[in-house]
Order: sequence, then C-alpha cells, then structure tokens
Amino acid sequence: MCGIVGYVGSKPALPVLLDGLARLEYRGYDSAGVAWLKDGEVQRMRCQGKLVGLRDMVQGGKISDCPIGIGHTRWATHGAPTEENAHPHTDCKGKLVVVHNGIIENYFTLRNQLREEGHTFVSETDTEVLAHLIEKYLENDIVEAVRRCLAEVEGAFAMGVLWKGAPDKLVAARKESPLVLGAGKGENFMASDIPALLPYTREIIFLEDGDLAVLTKDSIEISRIDTGESVEREAKTISWDATAAEKAGYRHFMLKEIYEQPQSVLNTFRGRIIPETGHVDLPEIKLSNEELAKISRIVLLACGTSWHAGLVAKYWIEEWAGIPVEVELASEFRYRRLLVNETVLVVPISQSGETADTLAGLRIARKHGSPVIAICNVVGSTITRESDGTIYTHAGPEIGVASTKAFTSQLTALYILALFLAQTRNTMDPAARAEKIRALSEVPRIIEKRLEEMHQACTELSDEFYQYRDFLYLGRHLHFPIALEGALKLKEISYIHAEGYAAGEMKHGPIALIDRNMPVVALVPRDHVYEKMVSNVEEVRSRRGIIIAVAEDGDNDISRVAQHVIRVPATKDPAIKPFIFTIPLQLIAYEIAFARGCDVDQPRNLAKSVTVE
Ligand code: AGP
Repeated sequence: MCGIVGYVGSKPALPVLLDGLARLEYRGYDSAGVAWLKDGEVQRMRCQGKLVGLRDMVQGGKISDCPIGIGHTRWATHGAPTEENAHPHTDCKGKLVVVHNGIIENYFTLRNQLREEGHTFVSETDTEVLAHLIEKYLENDIVEAVRRCLAEVEGAFAMGVLWKGAPDKLVAARKESPLVLGAGKGENFMASDIPALLPYTREIIFLEDGDLAVLTKDSIEISRIDTGESVEREAKTISWDATAAEKAGYRHFMLKEIYEQPQSVLNTFRGRIIPETGHVDLPEIKLSNEELAKISRIVLLACGTSWHAGLVAKYWIEEWAGIPVEVELASEFRYRRLLVNETVLVVPISQSGETADTLAGLRIARKHGSPVIAICNVVGSTITRESDGTIYTHAGPEIGVASTKAFTSQLTALYILALFLAQTRNTMDPAARAEKIRALSEVPRIIEKRLEEMHQACTELSDEFYQYRDFLYLGRHLHFPIALEGALKLKEISYIHAEGYAAGEMKHGPIALIDRNMPVVALVPRDHVYEKMVSNVEEVRSRRGIIIAVAEDGDNDISRVAQHVIRVPATKDPAIKPFIFTIPLQLIAYEIAFARGCDVDQPRNLAKSVTVE
C-alpha cells in the first residue's frame, strides 16, 4: 500500500512531508516523491528506492519554505518501481500534481480515451490517468474538476491534489482506500495512515468512502464526491503512540494483516473478473490462446505457505481447466532431473519474489524452455523480472513474518488463473465460470462479516490449549493443504510442534499418536467428503482424542463428536471454502502464540524472505 502525506499551513511543507513519509516507511515502498509550489509553479522531485535519496534531493526539506505540498511513497502495483512511475504525477502542462493509493480498475480505457484527446502519458501507472482526467475538466475550479474526474473512475482511491491555480488549497478524496485528515491550528494535514500525523496533531478526521475534502491552512470542508453535498466528519482524538498507530491499533502486524484479508482478496480480484458474464481478464499472461492450448502440464513451484496455496490450486485447475498439475517444493524441484519443456507452464508462487529456491527452480525451468508466469506480491522483485509475466497479488506489504493476507491473495490469484485457463481452453461454459466468479466475489464480505466473532471463539480456545506441546491438523481434498497451512502457522509463531495431515491417512500411521495430549484440529466443511471427515473425527474421539472441529454454521452433527467447534460461515460453493476455513486457523495460531508470549511478528530463526538456500 502506498503512503500519502499532504500539508497546508504556515510552516515549510517539505520537512513535514519527509517526516510524515518516514513514519509510513513500515508499510513498505519502492519509490518516493514530493511536490510543492515555487513562484506560482509546481515543483516536483521523485526518486526510485528509499526516502534517503529524496531527502538528499530536497536538502532535507531546506530547498523550499513553501507552506503547501504533497508527498508519496509508492508500493508498485501497475508499472515497475522507477522514478518515472513514482508519484506525484502531473498533467500534460505540469500545472497540477496527484498522489494516489489504490487501484484504478478502468485506467486502461481512460488512458486510451485521454490519449485520443491529445494527452501525453509518461508513466506506466494507473495514477497518471487521474492527473490528466482532472486536467481535462479543469477551468478555474479544481474541486469541480476533481469531482468530475472521479465520476468516471472505477476502483479504489485515496488521493491528494495540488494545483498551481489554487496555491492555498489541497483537495483530497477517498473510496475504498484509507485516507485521514489532521486538524491543526493554522495548519491542516492529509495522510494515508495516522502515524504520519501524530507528531503534529492528534485530532484526526476519518474520511468515509465517497468523501471529498478541501484543505486550507484554516479550514477543512468535506462533501460527497457524487452530489457535492456538505457533510460533517467529527475529529477523533487519537491516544495511540506512533508504534501502535503503525499497527492501526492492532497488537501485531500479523493480526492487522489477518483483518486486512477482505480488502486484500478484493484488491487481488478487482478489475480481473466480471461476475455477470463469467469473463476473466489476465492481460499479464502474454501467452496466446494457441500457446496456452499447447500446455500439456502445469508445475506450481513454491516454498512454505506459498506451496500450500499451490496445493489448493491443483484441485481448481485440474477440475476446471482439465490440465494435470504438479505442485513442487522448489527446494526439491531444483535438484532433480526435470522433465519440463515448452509445453509445461511453470508458475512460481512467491509473496516476496526473492525466495532463493523458487528463483533457482524458475531459472532451471526457463533453461528447459518452459514458459513462466509468476504469482507474486512485490512488483519488480527478482522472480517477476525473470518471468514471462506476473499475476500480482495486491495484498500490499506483508510485514508479519507469518504469511496470512498474502496466502489468501495467492489463493485468489490462483483461483482466477484456473478460471482463465478454463476460459481460454473452453473447458468450462460461461455460466459455470460466472457462478465461480460470483462465489469468489462474495468472499470479502463473508470474511468481513464474521472475522470478529471467529476471533473471539479462537481467543477462548487458545486460553484452553496454549500449553499443549503437540497438535495434529486434519483435512481432506481442498482442505488437506489448509490443514498443512494451519499447522505451519501454529508451529512458526508459537513454536509448538504441529503436523498437517490428509485425514484419510490417519489409519496409515498418525492414529497411533492420538491421546489426550494431542489436540486434533479437524477441518469439516460441508463438501463431498464431509461424511468421511466425520468418521475420521469419530476415530479420534473413540481413542480419547481431543477434537477441535472447524465447521460451518448449521452443522449440528459435528457437535456430537467434537468437544470443541469453531463456527465459520456456511458457503454454498465448495470452491471458496478454503478461503473461509483458513481464517480461524490463522487466528488460533496467533492467539496461542500471543498467550505463550512469543514474538508473533518476528518469530525466532525466521526471516520474511528466505533469500538464501
Ligand atoms: C509462511 O508463513 C512463511 N513465512 C514461509 O513459509 C513463506 O511462505 C515461504 O518462505 C515462501 O516465501 P515467499 O512466498 O516469499 O516465496
């Protein structure tokens, strides 16, 4: 997610902007920039890389004492992390600048239309469209021009605008991307997140979706983007310290990121699916339909949690696209004799895009002539640069070492990939695809609605189970990989030994482990293997095992065999159940680790990105 800071007041703006952007660094970024006014003209400086480069360029802010400006740290989503793509972006004549956080879904259409009208674009970003669209409507009222621009924009935005024709005002607007205002004395602020503002004011105004604000040094006026009607948004006094503010009040980044999943799943499928028609759009895949038709096999290549995402995707791709899928641990794949060639599509899955084993596997696959399409969360990372194309997961920076929102975003990207392959190979009719797409589009709302309740149930459970030394996680079909993922979450942040297992394998060994000291977490979705799962749970129960069942609302049968039941929302389509069943497993791991006093965000011996073998 990008960082935005804006200032209008009596002090020089640049030091405030640099300091505010520095306080947003935790969000992760790959380029930065600031803009201000000098002798009535817009000035702008941007740099690829970290803020220190920008600070040098503006001499620590001393380059100007202009009391108005905007700044930005960019987490690339469209376009590589270069200076040209860094914000702020300007219109054709450099009369105005825009900073933006979010995804403009229809930027491609708008950009083509604006090009036809004579606008010249210099970046690959979706944001630059905003600058030119405002320019198109700008005569002498910047607020009206922004309003008309946003009437044509689809997608998510938190944005700030500075125009040389209104040297005393900033315009801000938000829709589905956070933006807050800071109310000061003789000065006012905007920011994408509270930490940037705390040194200057604790009076924070939370803009709501569809709000537009006009800031001068002495006033903040808020109205609705669509109607222009004025609205009141009361300032709240924030008592958090800066560290708490970075976590938006959550105890840890991991918990914040668990709660961000409705948004990150939405941001990952946004602009790529059309529920009404069942159409999937993945322009990142440069392979033609003919080339895709020649694909005889798919290799999903990953490590850790990303490997679990691949294991889930195997079921979707094989069922919908009818292509055989192998899910390979990159650390094994890279040291074997590989039977891959130009008819084998290799898909490295990686949050960081820097995992050494996955990168090595990718390089070997390429040497064998395989086309490579990556699934990755970091634009411009090594794996993306060495792939033929990348389907980006728009999860935003994931700070917690344990992967949560990146995992469900990977599932989202893989789900869309499976439907895309079915679409291009004509193995699924549009109505069936539309049904799967409608099911996926429901996931954010389903999770959002019950997250708090699931969290409460998992907290109560962790109070009872945090001192156990061993856990077994069981699942079948799509939920076997989810059982593996739940076990990994627990072991990596609480240091408790936990094993994920295919429930059907119980009688082939693990059942010997069952006793009162080995809680069994059983994933029991109402799917085609539900009865099988129930009998596995009964096997455990009859051997005096302790069962924690994760089961859907309305399933009363399971309560007869499991001592503990964590309820999740019931969903009709089996394909989306893995998204839902993952959430309580993340929360159980989090709450048990917290109860054990572990360092949840930075667990011992682990790194966020394993760039060495
Ligand atoms: C997951 O919680 C772990 N942090 C780890 O297994 C991770 O998924 C693995 O190292 C792969 O990382 P990547 O997705 O960045 O390639």
